[in-house]
Amino acid sequence: MTVINQKMVRAFIEGRYWRHPIRALRIYAAETARKNKGYKQAWEAVGKDAGWTFTMMNGSPDEATLQRTGGEMAQRLVDALAIEPNHRVMEIGCGVARVGRELAPRVGHWHGVDISSSIIKIARGRTAHLPNVQFHELDRAALPLRDSSMDRAYSHLVLFHMDKEDMFLYLKEIARVLVPGGLVYFDTWNLLHPEGWDRFMWELDHHREKRVKPAHRNQFCTAEEIRLYTEKAGLVPIEIIDESFWVQTIAVKPGPGINLDAIKGSLRNLDALVPHGKWYY
Ligand SMILES: C[S@@+](CC[C@H](N)C(=O)[O-])C[C@H]1O[C@@H](n2cnc3c(N)ncnc32)[C@H](O)[C@@H]1O
Repeated sequence: MTVINQKMVRAFIEGRYWRHPIRALRIYAAETARKNKGYKQAWEAVGKDAGWTFTMMNGSPDEATLQRTGGEMAQRLVDALAIEPNHRVMEIGCGVARVGRELAPRVGHWHGVDISSSIIKIARGRTAHLPNVQFHELDRAALPLRDSSMDRAYSHLVLFHMDKEDMFLYLKEIARVLVPGGLVYFDTWNLLHPEGWDRFMWELDHHREKRVKPAHRNQFCTAEEIRLYTEKAGLVPIEIIDESFWVQTIAVKPGPGINLDAIKGSLRNLDALVPHGKWYY
């Protein structure tokens, strides 16, 4: 039998869930699930409630904050990945297009892929005014995009919500769909940073009494692991930044005539990518 424990009561009060009783019920159902229902079902549940979804993206339920943090991240990506106006850009785990809505007007074409149809539905609504945006719903770590069809890719706040096997499969898929010389940015939790370790302990504590752990719980890596996965996936890491609670990677798809030094020299303002001890918002 599922019990309501002290931790849940505290979260109910501190998180002011009494203001959102249906959201509270949904979170309760997710927290006490008796089966691991996989990534899709976990994220479909989130997407049924826009306020919960927005909070999962950037810690706030409101549209204005979503646009502000999305715009700031879009600028960081334009600089760090040397994104140009004609580029075809893909985001894995695009969520409600927090970043995509702000980035799409600055690129040739923007593709958002995500596992959750309910979250994509919100994203479509938020980007209906943008003609160069396309969404793809996934069932597993396989991208419905042609080989060598994207100039840039990124995945922000996503790959740490899955098993390392699936993260690796996505990296392989990214290597497949990028053009030679194409760049990708992605981030994961950094186990070797004190705040990364604290978050690991928080997760451990949060889930330790559960019969099953949720599929989308946070997972943790070290820079060395990320280097290995990235290289084995067929990409060349050109920056692995591990000075914060995230490991942040920029990698390139190699190919004949691709000059890695020139590509590295074109990346700008990498310091702005690093959260420097505080969350992004
Ligand atoms: C924390 S949100 C981040 C969304 C967005 N990248 C942003 O920064 O606003 C994580 C997103 O990743 C998606 N996601 C989680 N696991 C996934 C998977 N295995 N494959 C594809 N998308 C996934 C979720 O549905 C959700 O929209």
